Amino acid sequence: LNVCVLISGSGSNLKALLDAAADPAYPARIVAVGSDTEAPGLAHATAAGVPTFIVRPQDYDDREEWGQVLAAAIQEHGVGTGPDSGLVVSAGLMRILPAGFVHEFSPRLINTHPALLPLHPGAHAVRDALAAGATETGVTVHVIDEGVDTGPVLRQARVEIRPGEGENELHERIKQVERPLLVDTVRAIATGELQLSD
Ligand code: GRF
Repeated sequence: LNVCVLISGSGSNLKALLDAAADPAYPARIVAVGSDTEAPGLAHATAAGVPTFIVRPQDYDDREEWGQVLAAAIQEHGVGTGPDSGLVVSAGLMRILPAGFVHEFSPRLINTHPALLPLHPGAHAVRDALAAGATETGVTVHVIDEGVDTGPVLRQARVEIRPGEGENELHERIKQVERPLLVDTVRAIATGELQLSD
C-alpha cells in the first residue's frame, strides 16, 4: 500500500511510520511526505530517502485551488484516488482540507487526533482536555470527512491525565500511545483487516 503522509510540524508520527515501513514485512510504503510549510518533520523523510513536497496555501487564491495542487502532488507520487490506490495520512497537518480534496481521497484519507473524539475536536485538543478537568483523554485515528475531526472513528486509545501536568507533558504522553496506534492502523488498512468503507 502506497502511503503519502501530510505534516506541518515535528513529524514524530511520520517518523514512527517511516521506521515501521523500513521493515520489509510492514505492508505499507511511505512514498512521499507533503506539507503546507517548511515543516521540521520533512527532515525525517529526507533522511529516509523519501521524496517531499511543500504546497503552501498562501500561494493560491483559494483553499480549493490549494487542495487541487496538493492532490496533484500526492497523485504524482503514486497515491491515487481510486480503490486500492493508496492512502493519505494526515499526521499533524495543521490545516483543514478543502471539500474537493476530501471528496477525491476519502475514505482513503485518515487523520490522527490527540483526543477521544467526539470530545475536543479542533486545533487545541490537549489544552481543551486539560481545561475540561478531565481525568483521562486519548487519541483517535479516523477517516477525514468534510467536517473538522468528525469522520468515522477507526481506532481509539485512552491516556490518563496526571494531576498538575502541563499541555506539552500530556501531549508527549499522548504521542507515546498515538505513534504505535497510527502505525498499527495503517498496517491494518494495508492488510485489509480494516476496511475503509466508501
Ligand atoms: C499529533 O499529536 C497529532 O495528533 C496532532 O499534532 C501532533 C503532531 O505531532 N494533530 P508530530 O508532528 O507527529 O510529532
